[in-house]
Amino acid sequence: MTTEAQLDYGTFEATLARSKQLEQDLQKNPQNYKVLTGDRPTGRLHIGHLFGSLQNRVRLHKLGVPTYIVIADYQVLTDRDTFENIAENVRQLTIDYLAAGIDPFDGKTFIFPHSHVPELNQLMIPFLTLVTNAELDRNPTVKEEIQASGQKRVNAGMYTYPVHQAADILFCKGNVVPVGKDQLPHLELTRTIARRFNDRFAKKQPVFPEPQPLLSEAPIILGLDGSQKMSKSRNNAIMLSADEDETAYLIKRAKTDSERTITYDPENRPEVANLLLMASLATGKNPEVIAEQIGDGGAGKLKQYLTEAMNEYLRPLRTKRKELEKNMDLIEQVLRDGVAAAREEAIQTLEEVREVMNMKL
Ligand code: TRP
Repeated sequence: MTTEAQLDYGTFEATLARSKQLEQDLQKNPQNYKVLTGDRPTGRLHIGHLFGSLQNRVRLHKLGVPTYIVIADYQVLTDRDTFENIAENVRQLTIDYLAAGIDPFDGKTFIFPHSHVPELNQLMIPFLTLVTNAELDRNPTVKEEIQASGQKRVNAGMYTYPVHQAADILFCKGNVVPVGKDQLPHLELTRTIARRFNDRFAKKQPVFPEPQPLLSEAPIILGLDGSQKMSKSRNNAIMLSADEDETAYLIKRAKTDSERTITYDPENRPEVANLLLMASLATGKNPEVIAEQIGDGGAGKLKQYLTEAMNEYLRPLRTKRKELEKNMDLIEQVLRDGVAAAREEAIQTLEEVREVMNMKL
């Protein structure tokens, strides 16, 4: 591999600039794109997911861009001991997608767990030969995840899942991947694999596109403890499936500070700023305006305001969620249809891959 360009995990600024251009072109030429996104089925989604990635997906989806949503059930095995609830988590995740506005009945939106698409998984084998151990070892997101999981023994799936993720993206020739910042190293690896595959096996006619990351504009929502990212496992999240009383209770317990007057100051008052940010996302008003409106009302008033705003904002989604939950047959049908469509694409791609690798019989 000495002649090949080094894998460059890139700068954030450059990616952001490219992402903005991509955003404009997507609006103009949606027909040139295929969106591929994914989640691990580790549980239900919370409002951090909704305002972060989900709404962005729904927006792209409404532009008419075909959308493939991979539920990365194999990836759960990289850093978690339990696999008991994976299928149930897949179903609950699907319910969250539909409740948030993803429409799998439009003929161009597919939701499927990758464990059910053998031809997708098979792509991982040639892909593994296109990267070095050292490159996988350097992936900053993987390093962080290893740290965070606190495992003494790290399984090889942990180091190689970014290659699997390349298969998730490339099996359908997805060329736009809406992601958060933490996923950028994986995207860079996917681009590198696509490029090296084409260079090595398909010089005349490239098989894979180099997919581009699309960074969502949405700001990162901290947990209700104000100190770290919102996450179910840290117990600091408002789940989409929570009811109104639970939501009120969670917000009531949220951490604030001792200053009475409410101001929007993310630098010095992160906890209060985070509550204002959530209120802003739920109402569409500026956080500064909300802060001014509450003023001397203090944290109590802010929490009350946020509770009402969030519950009102989430009401239609939660109603839809409840209805869907009663209709598991429909959810299973959505997944079966998604798997069937994904397999069709994957079979086709694997054929092309065999062809250029001289493995066709
Ligand atoms: N690694 C992603 C995460 O942890 C999930 C994922 C799997 C994914 N396959 C993907 C994301 C393909 C985007 C595209 O959240």
